[in-house]
Amino acid sequence: MQENGFLKVWGANNSVTVIERGIERPLDPQGIPGLAITINGNNNRVRIEMPLRFSECQLALVGNNNFFSIRSSHKTRMLRVFFYIADGCAIEIGKNCYINNNASFIAKEKAGTKIVVGNDCVIAADCLLRCGDGHTLINEFNGQPLNEPDDIILEDHVWVGARCVLLKRAYVAENSVVGTMSLVNKRFDIPNVLIAGVPAKIIKSGIDWDLADYKTYVGE
Ligand SMILES: CC(C)(COP(=O)(O)OP(=O)(O)OC[C@H]1O[C@@H](n2cnc3c(N)ncnc32)[C@H](O)[C@@H]1OP(=O)(O)O)[C@@H](O)C(=O)NCCC(=O)NCCS
Repeated sequence: MQENGFLKVWGANNSVTVIERGIERPLDPQGIPGLAITINGNNNRVRIEMPLRFSECQLALVGNNNFFSIRSSHKTRMLRVFFYIADGCAIEIGKNCYINNNASFIAKEKAGTKIVVGNDCVIAADCLLRCGDGHTLINEFNGQPLNEPDDIILEDHVWVGARCVLLKRAYVAENSVVGTMSLVNKRFDIPNVLIAGVPAKIIKSGIDWDLADYKTYVGE
């Protein structure tokens, strides 16, 4: 049975387009199966390239000038993935990504900040990516905020293991791996590295990875 999706939009000058077989069209109110889209504000833009498969997923854009874009993927169905964008921020997911159960992407708090995932990336189950901390850390003496939101960028072909947390400033260069349960909160500019731990550090260099599992890879 095909799961219902929906599209609910409040506000002015919002656009939700679907690109299917190279043709771009406005999404109709039935939405996309398995994806609940709500937009509440003005000048928001959503761009979804099919094919993609969703189940119990949510996309919410709140406020003005937000942007969401996801490119096509034949990988497994996304289950309970949550995308939340507010305050003039953006989330952009590349082609052929593999996003697993219960991953959450939250881009808000500072206009212009974004979460960008390149092509051919894997985000495993229960990962959290957020550009802002949700509350403000303050200098005790002058009341100035200390934890300014910033971008999160994954270049092409990055594998993020299960239950990782990626915070503001996280940058992972191409062909790299983030070990399970790691906290990434700074830049890793060197490609082909394994980073892991809390906070993550480089554990191995000169690595690459393959989507196939071990037995398939070695031909057993
Ligand atoms: C990253 C990973 C692939 C590394 O595997 P590996 O190359 O066989 O690495 P090893 O087990 O030899 O570990 C190498 C070192 O890194 C450490 N390490 C590995 N993963 C780590 C992690 N997630 N956090 C902290 N340290 C880690 C090991 O303890 C070891 O340290 P040591 O040299 O001091 O003993 C594996 O640990 C991992 O995290 N897999 C992800 C599983 C997953 O989430 N799959 C989802 C499928 S979508």
